[in-house]
Amino acid sequence: MSDTPDKPKSHGRLQIAASVKPRVLMEEPMLLKGAWVARIITLFPDAFPGTLGLSLTGKALEMGRWRLEPIDLRGFGIGKHRNVDDTPAGGGAGMVLRADVVDAALRVAADGCPRDRARWPVVYLSPRGRPFDQATARKWAAADGITLLCGRFEGVDQRVLDHWEIEEVSLGDFVLTGGEIAAQAMLDATVRLIPGVLGNAESIEEESHSNGLLEHPQYTRPQEWEGREIPAVLTSGDHGKIARWRREEAEKLTAARRPDLWAKRQG
Ligand SMILES: C[S@@+](CC[C@H](N)C(=O)[O-])C[C@H]1O[C@@H](n2cnc3c(N)ncnc32)[C@H](O)[C@@H]1O
Repeated sequence: MSDTPDKPKSHGRLQIAASVKPRVLMEEPMLLKGAWVARIITLFPDAFPGTLGLSLTGKALEMGRWRLEPIDLRGFGIGKHRNVDDTPAGGGAGMVLRADVVDAALRVAADGCPRDRARWPVVYLSPRGRPFDQATARKWAAADGITLLCGRFEGVDQRVLDHWEIEEVSLGDFVLTGGEIAAQAMLDATVRLIPGVLGNAESIEEESHSNGLLEHPQYTRPQEWEGREIPAVLTSGDHGKIARWRREEAEKLTAARRPDLWAKRQG
């Protein structure tokens, strides 16, 4: 196993390198204290930053408001071919990521991190997990950082998940080919809650799921489009009325589309 990182890829001013050691530990240990850090254990480090490198999350990444540390699972593979997986015990289709290989990656990911899981959650992206939601994104954003383990094939040997007491979190009730897309979706939802990432903090307070309601409908110019007008109240200039209208619309929408959320709010 080599500790030598691959040649860093340029991403604007940002340098992202997939390595068996997170770059933050090798070169800039002090940065752990500052920016929020995401360590991603993956067989496909090239998948990152992906969409996280765009728009506001990308800008925040460039500005160092958060850091992305992909850790290449292949670097911990066994033998000449760096095998990371093997056939499932008991038979059956597919392959399973080996406990010893995943453990080695988790150890490197844990290096220098707080052990308190409230400050540094360690998560396996998994369709068997607790569904991800806005409350989880808020909790993660308030931590110092996170380690996300992306599975592939049939998943990960259960023993390493038990040993590390890893929390399993799901993107939804469907099966993806790997954890990378789930990791990006969850990171996007989390990173935008880190102070300074979004320009307008108010937009976080009012949007869907921030207060148990779905967001009210939004409109912009032109005033009339295809015979449809912007609701008159929104151009009335009466901010009290506008706020009331938005609240009522949000409530109507939530009750109609998400009776589960509405019932929770009423209860
Ligand atoms: C093909 S899936 C494995 C599914 C597993 N055999 C099962 O039935 O639960 C491969 C990997 O994709 C990721 N994955 C798939 N669906 C996911 C979801 N809904 N949420 C989060 N991660 C998911 C996990 O990391 C998983 O290990």
